[in-house]
Amino acid sequence: MRDSMHRSWALALSALFAVAACRPHPTVSPAAAAAPAGAPSSDATRVAFPDGWRFRAGAPATEAEHAMVVSNSRLASEAGVEILKAGGNAVDAAVATGFALAVTYPTAGNIGGGGFMNIHMADGRSMTLDYREVAPIAASRNMYLDENGKLTRKSTVGYLASGVPGSVAGMSEALHKYGTMTLAQVMAPAIRLAEEGFVVDSQFSRGIEGGRRAITPFEGKALFFPGDSAVRVGTRLVQPDLARTLKMIAADGPKAFYEGPIADSLVADEQRGGGIITKEDLRRYKPEWRTPIKANYRGYTLLAMPPSSSGGITMTEAMNILENFAPLPPAGSVAYIHLLTESFRRAFIDRNTKLGDPAFVTNPVAELTSKAYAKKLAAQIDLHHASKTPTFATKAEGMNTTHYSVADAMGNAVATTTTLNGGYGSGVWVRGAGFFMNNEMDDFASEPGKPNMYGLVQGEANAIAPGKRMLSAMDPTIVLDPQGRLLMVTGAAGGPTIITATMQVILNVIEQHMDLADAMRAPRIHHQSLPDTLRYEAKGMTQATIDSLKAMGHAVAQNRGGLANVNSILRVGSVWHGVNEPRSVGGAVGY
Ligand code: DON
Repeated sequence: MRDSMHRSWALALSALFAVAACRPHPTVSPAAAAAPAGAPSSDATRVAFPDGWRFRAGAPATEAEHAMVVSNSRLASEAGVEILKAGGNAVDAAVATGFALAVTYPTAGNIGGGGFMNIHMADGRSMTLDYREVAPIAASRNMYLDENGKLTRKSTVGYLASGVPGSVAGMSEALHKYGTMTLAQVMAPAIRLAEEGFVVDSQFSRGIEGGRRAITPFEGKALFFPGDSAVRVGTRLVQPDLARTLKMIAADGPKAFYEGPIADSLVADEQRGGGIITKEDLRRYKPEWRTPIKANYRGYTLLAMPPSSSGGITMTEAMNILENFAPLPPAGSVAYIHLLTESFRRAFIDRNTKLGDPAFVTNPVAELTSKAYAKKLAAQIDLHHASKTPTFATKAEGMNTTHYSVADAMGNAVATTTTLNGGYGSGVWVRGAGFFMNNEMDDFASEPGKPNMYGLVQGEANAIAPGKRMLSAMDPTIVLDPQGRLLMVTGAAGGPTIITATMQVILNVIEQHMDLADAMRAPRIHHQSLPDTLRYEAKGMTQATIDSLKAMGHAVAQNRGGLANVNSILRVGSVWHGVNEPRSVGGAVGY
């Protein structure tokens, strides 16, 4: 079966390249293309991006001998490195970075949201922590439908949009189990940044301006829009309310947030604004330790997030499908884009219909991640024609989640993705406590069968229920090389594009033999089954490639802006390479 698939694949490849009428890109040297997936460093392939593509190939990564932190805020990465230099491990540094992001990257960094942490210790232990928000006790299946059964905006804006936040409980739990320092120690940089402030740069100011619609109807307006303009470049942003909140957490632990004075402020605010989160909701919140989804892809091990995130299962399913085609066609070629698309399509069909919070639904994990199932799906791929799924209008994502990667001198690694969902979440800024609340309730299928803010069409498994976690796409991932050694720490922001972008960066390294900087800069594509549209980045494909894909039956559309926001670390020999997302802001900082 597999052999015959390879033979038909080889035949189809030549046909596809003829259709493309241009050289596929990036070009891959014959030696590299023939090599088994392997060491990405010394034999890294020279890459040629399409003409006019926004990034040039061959840029350097940040290199460090001991440890590396990569996040969407340089100040937050520096906070992590400060903790590492003070003797902390990767978990200490990840928690320090997480709290610092809540101060310096408030569009997504948070204490009012939730996230997922993937930890791999140097001694081989691997675990994930799910600190996803849960639906409040008073939530109900149709709470976002009006009296005519039409979907309202209440799952995205304002008080009703928030799930019960998990970030403070999650970060504290991770630190308690696998860190070596106290909350007060690892939160010191975040407290300093909130109390003493930091100088606003153009990117921060633009980000706040971009959040005007979300922020200005609520209490955060005074701080972030003094005199009605977004905080100006060059001014120092001091956040006294947030500093006080962080100090209470540092001193009294998560209890301060879930039962103490911060809970009081949060619930008072909810009551003022018509929200439904209660003291009981906060008191009940618990993060969950879970076993990672473990995929084997041509000898590499991918450790990824299990439900309540769909990230690990969806990525594993798509990777398993691709594994049936060897060697993969060169990155950027029509043949490669077609295969990626068809594997994404199939994995997302399952994702959108079968997955949900494991406390409420049975996820068919074993089946969806099995090689036999992937083989069946791979055999259904027509190498010349796109499969079809019905279309819906598409919506573009913001870049409003944030992923950060940490590797320390001992070889421990932490991949964390955290979010408020939309930029600045629901817009609600808790009065007196100084932080934004999430609008994660929109990640439920508010109306099963209808698209959410990411155009994702999902089913009953992800319908709203009290205490239930909404299905996520977040996919913090750790890759081990065929010898079982830590190779990559990666993950992304970008709603469903998280899964497809993370996978493409990993494939660029282990299959396409790119170094990390090129792997991150290479053009990306996205397909999520519905809407049935293959999205690409402006100038990320030549017209000839687009024409060929259309001729195969793909609906091809240019994405508004870049696809996803990835922050990655790669081990190259004994050196860490770090690259923050070139499409966004941030910093890779090591020592
Ligand atoms: O959990 C999820 O899948 C979404 N709440 C992630 C949202 C996101 O990535 C938004 N921005 N880029």
